[in-house]
Amino acid sequence: MRVGFVGVGRIGAAHAQVVRDHPAVTAVRLADADPVRARKVADELGVEAVANPFENVDAVVIAAATSAHAELMIAAANAGLPVFCEKPVASDVAGTRAVLAAVEQAGVPTQIGFQRRFDAGYVAAREAVRTKRLGEVRRLHLITADAEPPHPSYVPTSGGIYRDCHIHDFDILRWVTGREVATVYATGANRGAEVFATSGDFDESAAVLTLDDGTLATLQGSRYNGAGYDVRMEVAGTQGTYVVGLDEHAALTSAEPGTTFPAGAPFREFWSRFRPAYEAEIAAFVDVARGERESPCTVADALETFYVAEAATLSRQQNRVVTIEEVRA
Ligand SMILES: NC(=O)c1ccc[n+]([C@@H]2O[C@H](COP(=O)([O-])OP(=O)(O)OC[C@H]3O[C@@H](n4cnc5c(N)ncnc54)[C@H](O)[C@@H]3O)[C@@H](O)[C@H]2O)c1
Repeated sequence: MRVGFVGVGRIGAAHAQVVRDHPAVTAVRLADADPVRARKVADELGVEAVANPFENVDAVVIAAATSAHAELMIAAANAGLPVFCEKPVASDVAGTRAVLAAVEQAGVPTQIGFQRRFDAGYVAAREAVRTKRLGEVRRLHLITADAEPPHPSYVPTSGGIYRDCHIHDFDILRWVTGREVATVYATGANRGAEVFATSGDFDESAAVLTLDDGTLATLQGSRYNGAGYDVRMEVAGTQGTYVVGLDEHAALTSAEPGTTFPAGAPFREFWSRFRPAYEAEIAAFVDVARGERESPCTVADALETFYVAEAATLSRQQNRVVTIEEVRA
């Protein structure tokens, strides 16, 4: 299988290495809006840099800036190529729906990069919910906090903290509980670099969500979590509570005297925290592209998650509770 790449920045270059090392992959062809970057990454990985990543390939990975996703996804669909695209599918609802129409029309397999669905902790939490080991789920708490902010040029095209970052929390909330979000109240604060405020974005975030069965969820995030890259989820039911991301690497210090847990070094960024999940999602995509398995996350599924991110963004802008139905309509 020959795989083309569009965008080889932070995550594209890392995905390209995983794809290169997959036993079914015979060629990797890299392109980037910055051809010098494409050449540099290609040289480092010992693969080819190309001008057109849709030519002479059997599948495409899109890891360009979010604002470029929709156009690139539609181009891949029109070229009849199976496509893996990083989250989110597009910067807005209209763009996401346009991609959905194009991939359905073309009939190409798609997979969106929600790697938490491949993380052992989230998989265990989902199974505990499914088998009712926690009793009836009543409350969830989700955290995604970066140790350091992304580079300043990333921020204006990212879509903002809810569409860019918390979209992972919204997706995994739906996936673990098997429920849909009904309402969102979201807020945010500017405490860091000016680029967040000038881009209409925030660097600290908090939200309250209700699910369609009345379950309550709270959410927190930051672009400046000095303790480390902190991604956790608590799922509390009538008979038990599961916590994802609570191990020796948790970016936490217990205030209880004498407590030494957690004793390991916290993760500093997404790749080291989720590396096995990223590898598993790419392995899944190779199978999806070869028609050997169903997509673990389709564009239609990602659109449902995007509605939540859109509702959170609107809620923060207008300082009110927003229903998902309103955004969908
Ligand atoms: N799943 C995850 O955990 C995760 C983590 C980080 C980033 N992402 C997503 O991956 C995407 C890339 O993020 P990043 O951190 O690698 O950003 P980045 O800024 O480091 O890299 C983006 C690259 O895309 C290139 N690019 C931009 N527009 C392009 C276009 N039209 N055609 C070709 N190349 C183009 C840029 O030159 C740059 O090299 C974003 O959509 C982001 O949301 C996902």
